[in-house]
Amino acid sequence: MICLQRLAISAIVLKLVVAQDTTLLPTIHSTGWNSSFELSAEQLKLANLTTDYGAIINTIINFDRSQLANGGAHQDEFYDVQNLPKDQWPTESGRTIKLQKFTDPSSFSIPPKTAMSRIIYSTTNLNGTLIPASAYILWPHHPKSFRGGRNASASSAPVILWTHGTSGFYADGAPSTHRGLFYEDFVPFTLAEAGYAVVAPDYAGLGVSTSWDGTFIPHQYFASEAGAGDALNALRAAQESFPKELSDDYVVLGHSQGGAVAWTLSEILARKNHKFQDVVKHHLGTVSLAPPTDIFSLSAGIGPFLAWIGKDLDQIFPTFNLSDWLTPLGTKRTNLSNQVEGSQIVSSYLLSPEEEIVQPDWKETWSVEAFGKLANPGNMDFKGPMLVLQGMDDPVVTYNMTNNAVDKTCKNHPNDLEFLNIPKANHFGVINAGKQNWLRWIEDRFASQPLARPGCVKSNLESLMPQEYYQLTANSFVLWAGKPQWSYEIPTAA
Ligand SMILES: *[C@@H]1O[C@H](CO)[C@@H](O)[C@H](O)[C@H]1NC(C)=O
Ligand SMILES: *[C@@H]1O[C@H](CO)[C@@H](O)[C@H](O)[C@H]1NC(C)=O
Ligand SMILES: *[C@@H]1O[C@H](CO)[C@@H](O)[C@H](O)[C@H]1NC(C)=O
Ligand SMILES: *[C@@H]1O[C@H](CO)[C@@H](O)[C@H](O)[C@H]1NC(C)=O
Ligand SMILES: *[C@@H]1O[C@H](CO)[C@@H](O)[C@H](O)[C@H]1NC(C)=O
Ligand SMILES: *[C@@H]1O[C@H](CO)[C@@H](O)[C@H](O)[C@H]1NC(C)=O
Ligand SMILES: *[C@@H]1O[C@H](CO)[C@@H](O)[C@H](O)[C@H]1NC(C)=O
Repeated sequence: MICLQRLAISAIVLKLVVAQDTTLLPTIHSTGWNSSFELSAEQLKLANLTTDYGAIINTIINFDRSQLANGGAHQDEFYDVQNLPKDQWPTESGRTIKLQKFTDPSSFSIPPKTAMSRIIYSTTNLNGTLIPASAYILWPHHPKSFRGGRNASASSAPVILWTHGTSGFYADGAPSTHRGLFYEDFVPFTLAEAGYAVVAPDYAGLGVSTSWDGTFIPHQYFASEAGAGDALNALRAAQESFPKELSDDYVVLGHSQGGAVAWTLSEILARKNHKFQDVVKHHLGTVSLAPPTDIFSLSAGIGPFLAWIGKDLDQIFPTFNLSDWLTPLGTKRTNLSNQVEGSQIVSSYLLSPEEEIVQPDWKETWSVEAFGKLANPGNMDFKGPMLVLQGMDDPVVTYNMTNNAVDKTCKNHPNDLEFLNIPKANHFGVINAGKQNWLRWIEDRFASQPLARPGCVKSNLESLMPQEYYQLTANSFVLWAGKPQWSYEIPTAA
């Protein structure tokens, strides 16, 4: 029986291939198949790079660019709002400016029977200036329903407002232009397959990098308040565009940079006079995965990190100068990173080793404390309930950092905060190891269940098998193979 089925499938595949042009026969698939970028001689000189090191950077850039659907944010005209007539410039935040109801999924690697829409909407940057930003919505085939919930028979899909972690710093860093939406199975695919609609802001500056009036829009990396505004405005705009398909109620879920955004969002919703009164009553809760709460104590390589925050920090603090943090070589490498719009991997290779890139006394500069205040959530009132998950072996956001923030928050601002720790889990592993817990927690919120563990509670999630049996980090990333020459890579494409 099995043999017969296999034969039948092979026959279909063979028939397909034979019927086609021989140029469509299986060929080698490079990771940089859709880009032929090379650093110029001037760029190598500017950044003091050897030709050999330049070749390494080229390899990474070509991989990154090949991951972009439709050539990425600069080539996909969806992200261009510069031809928006002046009488259509928005006058308030949270409004849809451009609606792509149907996003052609063929250049994305989203799972079968999921669908996408994208919007450009109005939001504000940290100083209140109205700007455009992009977001995607990943649709389930059929909405999840909740036994015993308020609307077991609702036709709309329950909304998860998904605030992603670091995916880049420039236009092409937008998850909505990434073939796998950057977080692929970790979060958005999982949620859509479970019946949720994933409303996913890119954050301003990722996706749309030029406003309707032609001004440059920097990504205000780690300015959590700006990210939280981008998220709530994306929610408003998405619900405005899909009032029947999206529920009013929502749960916020974020990881890493987005874990801090999600936590900050809950703090904003707890303030008396915030600007989001229209959406606060539908907030059912927040899940924050591995949130940095003390940004300058991250144990990741600090060189790239200071460049990511510092490259546009003069837009927030006009007297800030990148030379306060970085050496002359560090500022030149940041300049090159700006020119090529380097991803985090590109800039990690460009902005190390630390002793050549970072000023020894950077931590003493005034801007460190000033920016920390804009970035760090915790130790404030927040709108609960909140579930915080943390890997105890996270090399980026340490267990201690999160534990301290939780302790301070619980002591000074008691509320419903469940802190779930996962032994031997790292920065991304925490997402997988805790998946059934955060999915259940979310489901309970939509089903109007009382909290299983109210108040401030801490626990550890032990593993079934011995710790040393488990895979620790991902060894693969979804690779788009949608051309006929590469169909041999997808035995599941039937
Ligand atoms: C440039 O790199 C070379 C090694 O490739 C090094 O000897 C030199 O000091 C560097 N120059 C600067 C300005 O960093
Ligand atoms: C490859 O990149 C080009 C431009 O860089 C883009 O127009 C095209 O859509 C990309 N191909 C695919 C299949 O995504
Ligand atoms: C349930 O119904 C209420 C009232 O009609 C609505 O506001 C809310 O969005 C619905 N929730 C879901 C998950 O559909
Ligand atoms: C902040 O606001 C000022 C004055 O309203 C404006 O000139 C400046 O461009 C704004 N900065 C940003 C980054 O939008
Ligand atoms: C930043 O500092 C460097 C080094 O001190 C200096 O050369 C440069 O002019 C400064 N830039 C601005 C905009 O002040
Ligand atoms: C970046 O480097 C280029 C080439 O050396 C130079 O023209 C430009 O002014 C630099 N930009 C900044 C912001 O330093
Ligand atoms: C974590 O915090 C505890 C108590 O504050 C301290 O004793 C311990 O050394 C810290 N561990 C690390 C790795 O920082």
